[in-house]
Amino acid sequence: MRPTFAAMLLLALAARPAFSADEYELPPIEYSRGTPENAVSRLQEKLDSGAHALRHEDRFGYLQSVLDALEIRPESQTLVFSKTSLQRHRISPRTPRAIYFNDDVYLGYCHEGDVLEISVADPQLGTVFYTIDQDETDKPKFVRQTDQCLLCHGMSQTDGIPGHRVRSLFVDTMGNPLLAEGSHRVDQTTPFENRWGGWYVTGTHGEQKHLGNLLIRNGEVPRPVQNEKGLNVTDLTPFFDVSRYPTPHSDIVALMVLEHQSMVHNLLTKANFAARQALHYESELNRALGEPSDRRLDSTTRRIRNAADALLQAMLCSKEAPLTAAVAGTSEYAQRFTNAGPRDKRGRSLRDFDLKTRLFRYPCSFLVYSASFDRLPDEMKLAVTTRLRGILTGTDKDEAYAHLAADDRRAILEILTDTKPELWRSVAEK
Ligand code: HEC
Repeated sequence: MRPTFAAMLLLALAARPAFSADEYELPPIEYSRGTPENAVSRLQEKLDSGAHALRHEDRFGYLQSVLDALEIRPESQTLVFSKTSLQRHRISPRTPRAIYFNDDVYLGYCHEGDVLEISVADPQLGTVFYTIDQDETDKPKFVRQTDQCLLCHGMSQTDGIPGHRVRSLFVDTMGNPLLAEGSHRVDQTTPFENRWGGWYVTGTHGEQKHLGNLLIRNGEVPRPVQNEKGLNVTDLTPFFDVSRYPTPHSDIVALMVLEHQSMVHNLLTKANFAARQALHYESELNRALGEPSDRRLDSTTRRIRNAADALLQAMLCSKEAPLTAAVAGTSEYAQRFTNAGPRDKRGRSLRDFDLKTRLFRYPCSFLVYSASFDRLPDEMKLAVTTRLRGILTGTDKDEAYAHLAADDRRAILEILTDTKPELWRSVAEK
């Protein structure tokens, strides 16, 4: 007997791993073939039409002009000296790589580098990558990059989505990572003591230890790790020539925000992809089986719920590594970040910092205001906002959110209701 087409399709679908490395290259995402629509593609359109021009300078090439055009503040500068990224031959403890970022865009700059490297939150494609040549030309252009970046920014390294990375590892005096000594993927849940290996860190943080500003001599990491000279550093001039960079900082608060937001951006991408992929699979299957197109599969509901949960836990700073002493940066980063608001009627903002026991005063990510959040697929948005409302009103008592005191929940609910009232529009009032 010949198997029916439907049965063959079922077999084919079943044989497909739930999350194969390049699933995002298949419909419905089609990552590399998709048309980007993000802050960088919009700037490129302005360059093409002549509405905006970039300015080249001897010292930093297009850096300052691109930062201006994308509204990225120089105080967001963080410095990483491990040879762990694309232009590794340019990177060393004397010539660290600088990373600048705002709510959507991240930019990598190397001293005398060939290109500026950019990753940007694209509401439909997740993270999209670009380079722009640092040589002066009449028509500077942001060139979209896929494979060259996905080598390190895709697949298992970023949990199967095109995404951002932050690492911490031991580095020798040349900037070579000592991989045999172990490494950490860093996000807001990483304990302080494991953060910032291979990075410069400026700021004060009391008795808390970390691995920043540390160079390993003779290839051997002393255990326990000795990093007295690397702690509470507020001036990097003893380490390298800071005049090579637009600012002398690698601000500890900027680093902590970078780690929070790169995690949330990755989970926004995952939530977006998971919902679209599950719904796509469901409609293919319903069609093949001649079922009504709106038949909901349990697996769809489950996949949406799981991705929504992971996103909410990151947005609400679940399992955040606690601070045990006050943290303060060295640049104006924190002040300017906070000034950006928005504020509720009582003057509170999701961009207010705590910096005594945790990063944010009101632990709910400011990325709730981002286009990537707004443009989550409807089913995902509904799952996220329904759950969020349950948590904030106290009806949802999941352990994962036990860190939010009743006061925190109320404050976040009030801030959101004032500053983003449309958020609750889709939530069925219970
Ligand atoms: C050899 C691996 C590797 C390649 C290839 C690579 N990156 Fe990265 N990238 C990293 C790592 C690791 C980090 C984390 C910071 C660090 O260690 O420098 C990073 C961080 C970044 C960041 C900071 C924010 C973020 O998204 O994580 C940007 C921007 C970036 N890369 C852009 C690019 C672009 C654009 C390309 C392709 C043209 C690229 N990278 C290729 C490894 C790589």
